[in-house]
Amino acid sequence: MRSTQIRQTFTDFFTSRGHQLVPSSPLIPDDPTLLLANAGMNQFKPYFLGEMPPPFPRATSIQKCARTSDIDNVGRTNRHATFFEMMGNFSFGDYFKEDACAFAWELLTQGYGLEKDKLWITVFKDDDEAEHIWRRIGVPASRIQRLGMEDNYWSMGVPGPCGPCSEVNYDRGPAFGKEGGPAIDGERYVEIWNLVFMQFQRGEGDKKGNFPILGELDRKGVDTGLGLDRLAAILQDAQNVCTSDLLLPTFHTVQDLAGRACPTEGEEKVSFQVVTEHARSIAFLIADGVLPAKDGRGYILRRLMRRAIRHARLLGIDGPVLPATTASVIGNLGDVWPELTAQAALIEQVVTAEEESFTRTLAQGTRLLDAAISRTQHSGSAALPGETAFELADTYGFPLELTVEAARDAGLTVDEERFAALLDEQRKRAKAGGKAKTAEALKKMDTYRELSARLPRTDFLGYDHLTAEATVTGLISGGTVVTTAGEGAEVELVLDRSPFYAEAGGQIGDTGTLTLHDGTVLKITDTRYGLEGFRVHTAHVLQGELHTGASGEAVVDAERRAGLMRSHSATHILHAVVMATLGDHARQQGSLVEPDRLRFDFAHFTALTPGQLHQIETAVNSHVLDDPEVRAWHADRAEAEAAGAIALFGEKYGDTVRIVDIGDFSRELCGGTHVAHGSQVGAFRLLSESSIGSNLRRVEALTGHGTLRRLDTERRLLNELADLLGTRPTDAPDALRKRLDALTTAQRQLARLRASELRHQARLLAAQAQRTGRGQMVAQPVTGVAPDELRGLAADTLARLSHGPAAVVLGAEHDGKALLAAAISPDLHQSGTQASQILAQAARVVGGGSGGRGPLASAGGRRPQALNEALDLAAREVTRLLGEH
Ligand code: SER
Repeated sequence: MRSTQIRQTFTDFFTSRGHQLVPSSPLIPDDPTLLLANAGMNQFKPYFLGEMPPPFPRATSIQKCARTSDIDNVGRTNRHATFFEMMGNFSFGDYFKEDACAFAWELLTQGYGLEKDKLWITVFKDDDEAEHIWRRIGVPASRIQRLGMEDNYWSMGVPGPCGPCSEVNYDRGPAFGKEGGPAIDGERYVEIWNLVFMQFQRGEGDKKGNFPILGELDRKGVDTGLGLDRLAAILQDAQNVCTSDLLLPTFHTVQDLAGRACPTEGEEKVSFQVVTEHARSIAFLIADGVLPAKDGRGYILRRLMRRAIRHARLLGIDGPVLPATTASVIGNLGDVWPELTAQAALIEQVVTAEEESFTRTLAQGTRLLDAAISRTQHSGSAALPGETAFELADTYGFPLELTVEAARDAGLTVDEERFAALLDEQRKRAKAGGKAKTAEALKKMDTYRELSARLPRTDFLGYDHLTAEATVTGLISGGTVVTTAGEGAEVELVLDRSPFYAEAGGQIGDTGTLTLHDGTVLKITDTRYGLEGFRVHTAHVLQGELHTGASGEAVVDAERRAGLMRSHSATHILHAVVMATLGDHARQQGSLVEPDRLRFDFAHFTALTPGQLHQIETAVNSHVLDDPEVRAWHADRAEAEAAGAIALFGEKYGDTVRIVDIGDFSRELCGGTHVAHGSQVGAFRLLSESSIGSNLRRVEALTGHGTLRRLDTERRLLNELADLLGTRPTDAPDALRKRLDALTTAQRQLARLRASELRHQARLLAAQAQRTGRGQMVAQPVTGVAPDELRGLAADTLARLSHGPAAVVLGAEHDGKALLAAAISPDLHQSGTQASQILAQAARVVGGGSGGRGPLASAGGRRPQALNEALDLAAREVTRLLGEH
């Protein structure tokens, strides 16, 4: 059975049994406790926890999952992968264990035709009920095993839902491993389907994985996950996950690149499989908007890429490996997962750039490593220091394994203990910073959860109204629920109805006032979601005392909101224009919508040229001037996607979605507030464009009053400049250019005059030369000479003396400081005298020092009053020298 049919069989089975088919959520989850989507139930977590009412009692999905917990097993076992498609069925307070087991059994044995005797069951050690159910279904006791927390208990997030599970395992036969059931051998008895009986809410756990149960869930439920890779391998009689139709074409690509077939065992086999398997994860992660980075999910992607590249190099594939392998993933799976095809250009660019940079890293690391190895060898030590290995890994991204390998080739070991200690220290430092914040945030989340479970959902009126009669239904102060708050207090509050838009989709939250009938006045300083769908208003009690239950009038700051709407609509127009100008890959990656100002991040590989920026700005303004209608409508997600709406990364499945159309050129899923007509955006002005990471660009822009204010400022500046130039603004550039030319000419003239003045002064000084010993000397104070002129003047004076031994010493006062300069004739210098010698004593007298070698020297000090004395000392030194000479 091909994988397409396996998927279809699964979803048909469950939709025909009343399950709503829900699309996979993106790999970037909408959940701060989770880095990447790792299970089908992630997107349903709020339903299990009772934070939101489930829109349907049963659901089924095929979820894209990424997990790196088993990364070291990839290629070493037949069954592990870092990306997989998980087929699941879910019940939210509807059916429980009995039906979950019956469904699984029926689908596996009848739908997929698996032999009953090959199916083995595990149940949680205390779950008698589950064992009885399986016995009733007809599984003999000999094929049911009990396992503990580690294998048969599932939980997700803190706090999060949890419960015991029961797994269905398939016996692949003696060729795959030891006899004795899944408790003995996971390769032979491969786990294919995990049925979780969600029952409790878990709290923060300890290091050993024990955690407290916080209570029963309001709605007990079912969460199951059937691994498509594993089932496909069984149904297609494939040895491992790389040889089912999900990965086979990519596996072939890797073998083509290596120019040989994958051996049946050994380290090379591992490398072939790692490259194959990781290529799929890489393609899917990038398609969902993950880009390589130093931390977070971007680091997971980078690590996968680097592992794949390194294993390819081990196979002797020296050229690029990621572009071809990810292309084969796109070719093979792009029909089922269209985001792969849609993002093919982005995937290619990102992997190419990363592979090039990692190849450079490897080269650079190798150079540093070679140097460190030879230093170690010279020092007579047998171990490369842990510091070196750490620096290579931390600063250059050079993997420890490579350092160890290279050291081994040179007959050295690596101090891995020290390496581990350094790594540990670094992790601890990072963690300590995060921990305090997490505890506070968790406490607050608890409070939100408590309120959100108890209070009805806030009715949002802000698409049509900026004022509304509202009642305070919940109040939070200092992270806990309270019922009153006094004047001056900062609180968070929940309203039954609210015109305030809560920050989402880049648009920042509304602000305004809440004036209660009892005279209490609140300033609303922010509005945001505490939990999904749960609106929280940050408020400051300006006057009176606030009580839960009080009612009054909520008023949004209308001018600010108008600015936000302008910027939000402008962001959509900009998105459409950027994609039309640069290509389909240039999708939005993030945005910040502020009053009359916006920031827009998108995928692109190079800086935009001034020409492109101008083109984009002009196109946005043309759209605005065409005054397109802005229309919001609702549809279910499938309809919206079919209609071509752009869904942004990280957006989540919801029963119905809101779509915003602008004219006929922009259609996006969006919950934001918008202008009614494009022209209300006003003038659009790009401010800047920059890089904010590899393949990520950012532009900032102004709209509406923001642009007008900017134009006003610029006009004022220009007028001021024109006034200063004594001309009209339009003539200002020419006038300025003329002034600059005139200035240059004047400066040149001035320099010429000054030079002739200095020459004249040199002549006068030379004329005052005295004979001393066998030569001539000038030792004079001068005035009106700048520091950078004094040495030149001394040299010029010297040049004007007749041949023979000679020395010139000049002193000047400048800005309250004493300056000295000395020049000696070539014959004096050639016989070993340095000009600085003449100044040695003199410099000390003015409070400075002199040094250096050469026929010219200068010195300076803080005591100008001692200049004459200094010149006398210098003159005496010259006399002495010339006497000796
Ligand atoms: N959440 C469970 C798992 O991921 C079942 O879907 O294994």
